[in-house]
Amino acid sequence: MSKLKLSNRAEAAGRIMVALDYASAESAEQLIKQLEGIPCYVKVGMQLFYTAGPDFVRRLKTRGYKIFLDLKMHDIPNTVKGGAESVAKLGVDVFNVHAAGGRQMMEAAMEGVDKALTGFQAGTVTRPLVIGVTQLTSTNEQVLNQEIGIAGSVEEAVLRYAVLAKEAGLNGVVASPLEVLRIKAACGDSFVTVTPGIRPAGADVGDQSRVMTPREAFEQGTDYVVIGRPITAFPDPRQTLEGIIDSIVAES
Ligand code: C5P
Repeated sequence: MSKLKLSNRAEAAGRIMVALDYASAESAEQLIKQLEGIPCYVKVGMQLFYTAGPDFVRRLKTRGYKIFLDLKMHDIPNTVKGGAESVAKLGVDVFNVHAAGGRQMMEAAMEGVDKALTGFQAGTVTRPLVIGVTQLTSTNEQVLNQEIGIAGSVEEAVLRYAVLAKEAGLNGVVASPLEVLRIKAACGDSFVTVTPGIRPAGADVGDQSRVMTPREAFEQGTDYVVIGRPITAFPDPRQTLEGIIDSIVAES
C-alpha cells in the first residue's frame, strides 16, 4: 500500500475537498472568499447545485477552482449517460454516480464522459474523475440490513460496490476512511478513494456514523478527504482549514 506523502501545504490543500453545503450562491461565495488563496477543492452538492445551477459551477471553473460535483447520479443507464455528458461539459474535475445503480449504469456514465470530450478540442476540457458512491457514511449496519435490505456488514457492501465500480471502469469510489485499506487492497493503489466522514479531533460527529480525523484518513492511504461542517460551521473557517492542513503535512 502506498501512502500519499503530502510534503507541503499546497499539496495537502489539494487533497482536501471543502463541502459547500449552502442554500445560496451568496453564502457559498462568502466561504470561498474566506478561503481565498488556499488551493483546496470545492465540493458542490445537491443543495447548492439545485439552487445556483450550472452557471455557478462555470463561474468557479473560470476562476480556476477545482470542483467536485457531488450529485450522486442514480437512474437508468441512458439517463445517467446524458447526465454525465452534461456535467463533463461543465468542466468539473470530479463527479459521482451511485455504484448501487449497477455495472451498466456506471459504464453508461463513462460513455457520457467520452461523448462530452469528443465534442471539445483536445486539451480544452480535462477528463473528470468518475467516482462511485459505495455506502453512504451515514449508514450503519442496522440501517443497511433492516431498512435498505442488504445483508452482511457495511464493510462487505462497500467492498462489493468498490470492486463493481472498478470493473465498470470508474476511477475510484467515495467511502468511509475506515474502508480505504481494504478497497486499495482489492482494487489497487491507483483506484482513487474520496473519503467523507472526516472529523478533526474533538469535533462534533453529527449524522456521520463512521468517522476519522484527516490525518488518520491519509495514514490509511486515502487520496482525498471531504470536509463540510467541521470547516463551514466554525466562526473562522480559514483558521480551521489551515489547522487541518498543518495536521496532515508530513514532517520531513
Ligand atoms: O459536514 P460533513 O463533513 O459531514 O459533510 C460531508 C459531505 O460529504 C456532505 O456534503 C455529504 O453530502 C458528502 N458525502 C458524505 N458521504 C458520502 C458521500 C458524500 O457525507 N458517502
